[in-house]
Amino acid sequence: MALLAQNPTETASWKALQNHFEEIKLQKMQNLFADDEHRAEKFQIEWQDFFVDFSKNRITGKTVKLLVDFANEMNLAGGIKKYFDGDLINQTENRSVLHTALRAPRGKSVLFEGLDIVPGIQEVKYRIKQFASDLISGNIKGYSGLEFTDIVNIGIGGSDLGPQMAVDALHFYKNHLQMHFVSNIDGDHIHELLSKLNPATTLFIVVSKTFGTQETLTNATTAKDWFLESTSVEALPKHFVAVSTNEEAAMQFGVSQTNIFPMDNWVGGRFSLWSAVGLSIAIAVGPDNFEEFLEGACEMDIHFATTDFNQNIPVILSLLSIWYNNFYGAETESIIPYSQYLDKFIPYLQQGIMESNGKSIDRNGKSVEYQTGTIIWGGTGSNAQHAFFQLIHQGTKLIPVDFIGYSQPLHGNVEHHNILMANFFAQSEALLNGRNLDDLKSSSENWFATPYKYFEGNKPTNTILIKKLTPKSLGALIAIYEHKIFVQGYLWNIFSFDQWGVELGKELAGNILSDLETRDFDNHDSSTSSLLKKFNSDRMS
Ligand code: F6P
Repeated sequence: MALLAQNPTETASWKALQNHFEEIKLQKMQNLFADDEHRAEKFQIEWQDFFVDFSKNRITGKTVKLLVDFANEMNLAGGIKKYFDGDLINQTENRSVLHTALRAPRGKSVLFEGLDIVPGIQEVKYRIKQFASDLISGNIKGYSGLEFTDIVNIGIGGSDLGPQMAVDALHFYKNHLQMHFVSNIDGDHIHELLSKLNPATTLFIVVSKTFGTQETLTNATTAKDWFLESTSVEALPKHFVAVSTNEEAAMQFGVSQTNIFPMDNWVGGRFSLWSAVGLSIAIAVGPDNFEEFLEGACEMDIHFATTDFNQNIPVILSLLSIWYNNFYGAETESIIPYSQYLDKFIPYLQQGIMESNGKSIDRNGKSVEYQTGTIIWGGTGSNAQHAFFQLIHQGTKLIPVDFIGYSQPLHGNVEHHNILMANFFAQSEALLNGRNLDDLKSSSENWFATPYKYFEGNKPTNTILIKKLTPKSLGALIAIYEHKIFVQGYLWNIFSFDQWGVELGKELAGNILSDLETRDFDNHDSSTSSLLKKFNSDRMS
């Protein structure tokens, strides 16, 4: 069954939110804190190793109530059920969205077209884990009998960003195998890597849901040619494995059928790291850690599907985001993890969030007249503090921030960790409280500089404090943001699980590629034509 297709702005609860916004828009969080010493406790969620403080937001108890009323009026609970039940909620592609089934525990059944898909998922997972453990132990060897030392994941978008992010984030749990990721069609990317590798000890994983993506196939072919320069066609199947829904194309490329790890159409590319796309993760950190990673996500699924909305982490984060996006007019959100291991978390979320909710046609086929997808950006603290935080503190734009930090350091360097986390807490405190002009006046010797030193504060932040970065907590953290994507797309009445917007560029690139071969550049707008002519003359010179 399709999702409800209701314009959110026409609901009574949206109108109530609008009125409420007019009432409180000028209120300062500093005063809300001063007026209520228990404010923090009222806007906190504790779940397993997660402590989520959302008290530093421009909200009151009434705001949360009205936001939850809105979610209820939109029948969010019904939407969540359809999402987990595998209804055809990706209507424009006529597909279910079942990445949650990939982490469902053994024994649970998830029906798709009347059949339980969990046993099939478990079977692929068993193969992934077996393959990973044989690679790690050296049981699987290259054509010359040498053990593998380097694994290269070739993919792009969801077939790259997810596994790369998780492998990086879980580096602490990694084994001896060297993991590499190649995504960009820029030939310099793969050439830089290949020049450092030994074909006899390198395994390539070609990851492409469709096995039709130009960048991935071009990179995979370059890798194959490089491999064949010093080996033979007979050696190829031992060094190339594939993850895809398109078994036939993978076999045509030269991968043997036994080395194809299948995935299904009901898993979207940007949500696919739980599927066979996660093979690199299982290889990098071992099957047990991979299992824990899935378990963490599964437990977050249960929290999301069963917890009251006002204590439900993904729902609360979604509603707050809608509050700023649609009422305060905030255009962007910043995500700042205070762990260098989460460096790739931001580009990963950029695809997840912006490819999903960057839409302007609603579920009735009409143009929306309200804002949808937020722009996501960020960087790791404390690097970000020394780069763009100035704008968040004193710029003209309202930028809600999610701070993500861990109570325990992985390598036990307490001194570093205390400094890191002191900064973590200080930033949201500064964003909340700002700096009082009167205090500045009384202390300042340079009167001219006083207004420049003023911080208004009142800048909204969520703080997600997690006990420790483990495979399990990472799985849960990712699942929070996945569900946030679903909730926001659902409430904005858009389709989150297609990505038609990226297709046109791909088609035009195909046309331009043939124009570059025929050197016929007049078939474009004048700007593109003149750029192509300039490129053509430069490349020839
Ligand atoms: O171009 C966007 C996209 O379709 C993503 O959604 C997807 O993750 C990526 O391309 C890669 O697709 P594939 O896994 O089929 O190569």
